[in-house]
Amino acid sequence: MIPPLGARLLGQVAATEKLGAFCWITLELPGWHATAGERVDPGRFALLQAEPSRCFLPRAFSIADQDGELISFLIAPVGEGSRELTGLAVGSDVWVLGPLGRGFALGEMAVRSELQSQQPSGVRPRLVVVGGGAGIAPFPLLLRRIADLSGPGSEAAGHGFSEVLVVLGYRDMTQVEGGAPVRTAVNSLRQRGIACALVEVTEDGSCGPAGLVTSPLAEHLRDGDRVVACGPEAMNAAVWDICRKTRGASAWFSLEAGMACGVGSCHGCVVRLANGSLARVCHDGPVFKGETIFAVADSGPGMERP
Ligand SMILES: Cc1cc2nc3c(=O)[nH]c(=O)nc-3n(C[C@H](O)[C@H](O)[C@H](O)COP(=O)(O)OP(=O)(O)OC[C@H]3O[C@@H](n4cnc5c(N)ncnc54)[C@H](O)[C@@H]3O)c2cc1C
Ligand code: FES
Repeated sequence: MIPPLGARLLGQVAATEKLGAFCWITLELPGWHATAGERVDPGRFALLQAEPSRCFLPRAFSIADQDGELISFLIAPVGEGSRELTGLAVGSDVWVLGPLGRGFALGEMAVRSELQSQQPSGVRPRLVVVGGGAGIAPFPLLLRRIADLSGPGSEAAGHGFSEVLVVLGYRDMTQVEGGAPVRTAVNSLRQRGIACALVEVTEDGSCGPAGLVTSPLAEHLRDGDRVVACGPEAMNAAVWDICRKTRGASAWFSLEAGMACGVGSCHGCVVRLANGSLARVCHDGPVFKGETIFAVADSGPGMERP
């Protein structure tokens, strides 16, 4: 089913917080409920543009959290558009087109697999969340939604995850600071009685073990796990390589691509899928199942820009 397309709303900056290499920015969006519904699926995104702006086009950012009509984003200031947004003062105007795209279908992922059905009843899949750099952005909202799915009573209703493992990789300590909203979400899950382990690594060893996020993933991934990943292309390819060697593991990836319209019209964000067909990241994704974007047999990614 195609998720409902969001509207273009003019919102105001309600709060901003510098988190190391990132900025956490919360926008107040009157009218969001009427156009987007009450609960946004994690992994969906919005196009943001400061008003006024020096940029011709808005920029895409994952919806990082939602509290009613307060919508938060975790933004890395890497160029003109993102710097403009992270430099805004409270009360400034921002145009928001969203929510857009297809997010992580948590309900579908939480269904017991054939592997789990062979085990005693009550065994539910484990969710493994993998984020790299700015790719951690969708996960505060995702963990909030998991609490709703996997809380008390969900087992009786036949869905939910048995436990959650969050594995995050950062370049250095400045990126670790940006992980604060994910750590808060992990703690809230634990407070609600859901087992949630967190492993964080940095490339330069300034926090936790030195290395890439794929090292702890390879160490901890178990048969039948459900993996959701968001990060640089090379990380996604390496995560897929580990998943496809693990029996019964499934994986979903949130992709990045340069975007213009954000709604499927301009074909500026097209990627080639594993079967050779083309997909628009903004409309058909940004979340894709692993076997859709990567060749199943090869270790390398099938995905490429045409
Ligand atoms: C669906 C989707 C969700 C996204 N979610 C987020 C998010 O939650 N948080 C976030 O920070 N970003 C996110 N991005 C990436 C974000 O859209 C880009 O970083 C942004 O468009 C850059 O615009 P700019 O004008 O600041 O930089 P540009 O002027 O477009 O680029 C300036 C320079 O920065 C480099 N650059 C551009 N993007 C990146 C990048 N991602 N990392 C490092 N260098 C880069 C370019 O190569 C260029 O050299 C998302 C992208 C997509 C498609
Ligand atoms: S950005 Fe225009 S089709 Fe995706």
